[in-house]
Amino acid sequence: MINEPERICSWQHAWFLDNWVRRAIHNPDRIIGKYIEKGQTVLDLGCGPGMFSLAMAKMVGEDGTVISVDIQEEMLHILRRKSEDSGLKSQIHLHKSGSDGIGVREKANFALAFYMVHEVPDKAGFLNEVATLIKPLGRFLIVEPKLHVSKSSFEETVEIAQSTGLILISRPKILFSRAVLLQKNSG
Ligand SMILES: C[S@@+](CC[C@H](N)C(=O)[O-])C[C@H]1O[C@@H](n2cnc3c(N)ncnc32)[C@H](O)[C@@H]1O
Repeated sequence: MINEPERICSWQHAWFLDNWVRRAIHNPDRIIGKYIEKGQTVLDLGCGPGMFSLAMAKMVGEDGTVISVDIQEEMLHILRRKSEDSGLKSQIHLHKSGSDGIGVREKANFALAFYMVHEVPDKAGFLNEVATLIKPLGRFLIVEPKLHVSKSSFEETVEIAQSTGLILISRPKILFSRAVLLQKNSG
């Protein structure tokens, strides 16, 4: 079962995830700017209303691609409108996850799962699929909210992620969060 509505942050709270206060606390340039280069393909898993997708679209530029994935069609509608309004539509490819997995085909240089892994019931299935979507030497940043995710629960997620073959690189410091940066081996 992947879609358990009570576990998922409803699209009706989208405003809470993308506003000037959040952009100041979780500034995308500061948190992920160092991992992304022009022309790359990046994955925003559980993109929500797209604060990170929009910032990553600017980072990858016109020759790059952001694949923004969400399980809620409404979140993707909100992001579609924002990407049109900000002239970033061509870089942002919207993708609705299925009940049986993510279902993306392209591989990415960088993947982000910001405040979403705790909403996924089958973490092992999800993280195994993410690992297949990352290019050799590509990186994967998982960020979880301290408020909802205990240290032990986060460590379980880190262990599962490492069991997919991803290598733990660092534990970035992000306000109110627990975070881990992983990397795919050179293949
Ligand atoms: C708390 S929001 C975070 C949104 C965004 N990453 C951010 O930090 O602003 C979590 C998002 O993950 C999405 N989500 C939850 N489970 C998912 C799954 N299995 N596949 C794709 N998206 C999922 C939810 O619909 C929601 O939009």
